[in-house]
Amino acid sequence: MSSEQAAFAVKGMYIDGEWRPSASGRAALVRSPFDDSVVAEVPRGNAEDVASALAAAQRAFQRAAFPLDERIAILDAAASLLAERAEEFAHAIALECAKPIKTARGEVQRAVDTFIFSAAEARTQSSVTVPVHAVATGAGKSAWTVRVPVGVVAAISPFNFPLNLVVHKVAPAIAVGCPTVLKPASQTPVTALLLAQLLHDAGLPAGWLNVVTGGGAEVGSALATHPQVAYVTFTGSPSVGWGLAEAAPRKKVRLELGSNAPLIVDERSDWEAAADAAAFGGFVQAGQSCVSTQRILVHRTNVEAFTARLKERVESLVVGDPLDEDVDVSAVISEAEAERIHAWIQEAVSAGATLVTGGTRMGSVVAPTVLSDVSRDMKVQCQEIFGPVVTIVAVDDIDDAIEQANDSEFGLNAGVFTDDLSHALRAIERLEFGSVYINDAPTVRVDLQPYGGVKDSGNTREGPHYAMQEMTELKFVTLRPPA
Ligand code: SIN
Repeated sequence: MSSEQAAFAVKGMYIDGEWRPSASGRAALVRSPFDDSVVAEVPRGNAEDVASALAAAQRAFQRAAFPLDERIAILDAAASLLAERAEEFAHAIALECAKPIKTARGEVQRAVDTFIFSAAEARTQSSVTVPVHAVATGAGKSAWTVRVPVGVVAAISPFNFPLNLVVHKVAPAIAVGCPTVLKPASQTPVTALLLAQLLHDAGLPAGWLNVVTGGGAEVGSALATHPQVAYVTFTGSPSVGWGLAEAAPRKKVRLELGSNAPLIVDERSDWEAAADAAAFGGFVQAGQSCVSTQRILVHRTNVEAFTARLKERVESLVVGDPLDEDVDVSAVISEAEAERIHAWIQEAVSAGATLVTGGTRMGSVVAPTVLSDVSRDMKVQCQEIFGPVVTIVAVDDIDDAIEQANDSEFGLNAGVFTDDLSHALRAIERLEFGSVYINDAPTVRVDLQPYGGVKDSGNTREGPHYAMQEMTELKFVTLRPPA
């Protein structure tokens, strides 16, 4: 298909414990967003592959039980193997999504943690007893609840965390005993296939993880709406996510979507630390995170000094090749995305925004950009940029900041820098977000926390404990001893 040597040799899609070509007989090239070099050639999956993968998952689910101790052993082994193979995974992530290598290494470490947290959670699950004998009809009975796996899980994952956001779906599913069919983002299937190999090597039996690569929206939709799927876990764009939920109204469709995360910098605050946090949170992996710092709401008295410090910090970020050890910011996922981000910046500037720094584009690399004097209706303010761009708005007081932060269709993470305890408490109470971080940027996630949003940002919480609750049904049991 390409005469160029691919960086990774892919054996096929992973279905029923084997490497297979697609039923379509076709392949797709994965290219580096940074320099367009060929990363791999993968099978271009179709609805027939989805059906084979689901059949394998269903067989796995119906076969003899997959005992808890064996599932825990596999999660433990996966964590160890991933730590051993960390550099290979980081390299794949850096190549296929242009994530700077040092950031990619951080993602691999987080994925190791996600396996460890899933194993720990699997070891410590408990059930509750229910005192049915509190009423006469329950006399003589014992009663308790158990959690049972929902069935086959369809996992649809995004390009921006090709490893950890897959592990956040696959590891809890293994922990509770649900087989998974995964459709990784079409831009980043290589890391998902490496993970399939790793779980195979860790001893995962056939059918418990199946990976269909190379397909676009039609594969995602065939998967999510298939009658054999009990549970859909999707991370990606709001339009696709809510579309899937509408297409499969009787299934549990759990969505983790976007945001335009606010960072509030109060009058009495460590605004210097806030500027440093924003220089990281707005630009790490080129702003392509659902919790990237986007709208910075700074008290008027601090805005000038804050802007100067942020400008200095942003201008010191190293932009370039994701494999370069010093690089902080590389390409966004495609040239088309870079064009869109650049157009939004230009549109804002034409409408009166001030370019503090950045604003240029070279191919798929957008220069880290800071805008001020923005208005609420500009796309850079009211929509999700998903690129290396932040905006600064001067606010009058904490109430003004909270009101502006809430003026969004989204509600995932919010950050507040303040030294005023009453302001912190007011922000915690009033901010309409899944998470509120005091004296931190919103671009933070610890992999065992409940992570997810309200409004258009989604309808679930991820994190091993919470995902495991979602992937199980509560079954109530009573037992009356035989006479
Ligand atoms: C996301 O972009 O949804 C995930 C953010 C993270 O895990 O850090």
